[in-house]
Amino acid sequence: MCGSAHQDNFVSKSPKKNNKPSNGAPAERSEKPGFAARKVAADILGNVMHKKRPLDGELDMASGHSGFRALAANDRALVRAIAGAALRHRGEIAEILARLLDRDIPEKTGRVLDILHVAIAQMQFLDIPDRAAVSLAVDHASMDRRARPYKGLVNGVLRRLGRERDEITSDLDAPRLNTPDWLWESWQEAYGEEGARAIAKAHESEAALDLTVKADPAAWAEKLDGVVVGAGSVRLTKKGAVDALEGFEEGAWWVQDAAASLPARLLGDISGKQVADLCAAPGGKTAQLAASGAEVTAIDISKARLKRLAENMTRLGLSVTTVAADLREYEPEALFDAILLDAPCSATGTIRRHPDVPWIKKPYDIEKLSEIQTALLDRVMSWLKPGGVLVYCTCSLERAEGEGQAEAFLERNKERVALVPVDANEIGGLAESVTPEGYLRCRPDQSAGPETGLFGMDGFFAARFRVS
Ligand SMILES: C[S@@+](CC[C@H](N)C(=O)[O-])C[C@H]1O[C@@H](n2cnc3c(N)ncnc32)[C@H](O)[C@@H]1O
Repeated sequence: MCGSAHQDNFVSKSPKKNNKPSNGAPAERSEKPGFAARKVAADILGNVMHKKRPLDGELDMASGHSGFRALAANDRALVRAIAGAALRHRGEIAEILARLLDRDIPEKTGRVLDILHVAIAQMQFLDIPDRAAVSLAVDHASMDRRARPYKGLVNGVLRRLGRERDEITSDLDAPRLNTPDWLWESWQEAYGEEGARAIAKAHESEAALDLTVKADPAAWAEKLDGVVVGAGSVRLTKKGAVDALEGFEEGAWWVQDAAASLPARLLGDISGKQVADLCAAPGGKTAQLAASGAEVTAIDISKARLKRLAENMTRLGLSVTTVAADLREYEPEALFDAILLDAPCSATGTIRRHPDVPWIKKPYDIEKLSEIQTALLDRVMSWLKPGGVLVYCTCSLERAEGEGQAEAFLERNKERVALVPVDANEIGGLAESVTPEGYLRCRPDQSAGPETGLFGMDGFFAARFRVS
């Protein structure tokens, strides 16, 4: 077994309660500790997989799954760990189940598969005793009308996994199994077999927590017990509540992956310049631009996300102009010296943080998003003063949203647009993250810093253009 997460305090030493009321029908609730968390985890997993609801949305304390919001903090942490492991290892768990089951479980049995996935996630990837995971899964199956006929199967399958774990799981090709075919093919084409495998392997671990500091990363790294990575990000080595850390209240830093901090740096010295941050919310890059002394106009289509951006800027003591608008319709009043376009994308570069992405995104999404990216690039290039700089970026690993988009943009605008290649020295010497053409191409399997050798950063693409 591997993984960190919650140490379950379930102990089945007390005499078994009879869950059957006097009429013989199974009870609706199990009183066992941790049952509610497992039930909510299965429900959330079902919502992500079958209704394509993003995991973050389900876990949101303001608008997420009502059962999740009603749980105590330690149970919420357990749900987060179980749902995260179940999605991160979804392919492995499905293969384990295929090896354990003689035939497929029919769709109409509703919850059964979700219950099994939740149990196997605990047994294989979290420090939770088998007996707790199995017993709660069987209870859950007993209490679900459509799953009830399968409670014996749930019990048998999970107990067999406990007994024959090594034979059943030792030869699993985890990186391949945990990556849907279409993504694997896309990465293989872009990065070769070895690259695809390294990326998929990196997705087995959670991302580190990186901060971008207003000034003096070395001093903040020391204060917060972190290390400096990338181009001056502070990587924390311990996990904990972010808002309890020194410097949060005073707005000395904000949470931002080391890779996500690189595109804004490509604008160079922007002090006193008019800079448009397009698709700005929740404002990680806006904060960088404003902290560099630029006059920032932050534009985003989402009023709710812009509200968060404004709150973030208030905490950080940074002043920017915000505009809620669809870039496909908006017309700026004046031209800009520089533009950062952080276009909407599939977010396949953030799978370590969002393990639901491979399962809720489809090739069709990449096609639709690519069309939007093309439209935005073509539109906003005319918002620059002559000779202005445009940085286009996405947190995607897909060429169609990165290199392909940049090449096509250059091809369409040969007369007016030139690529300004990225130099590794501009991004903290991360030579591995610069392509021969001069694009920024970060991958989760790359080291975040040559000195530290610290592993991993979000997948990111950026290209810098000068527009005449
Ligand atoms: C990748 S996120 C931006 C992250 C942000 N730049 C940061 O660093 O924190 C993409 C953003 O694009 C916005 N967006 C999507 N389509 C848009 C459009 N047509 N016009 C303006 N904003 C749009 C979304 O609301 C979302 O906030």
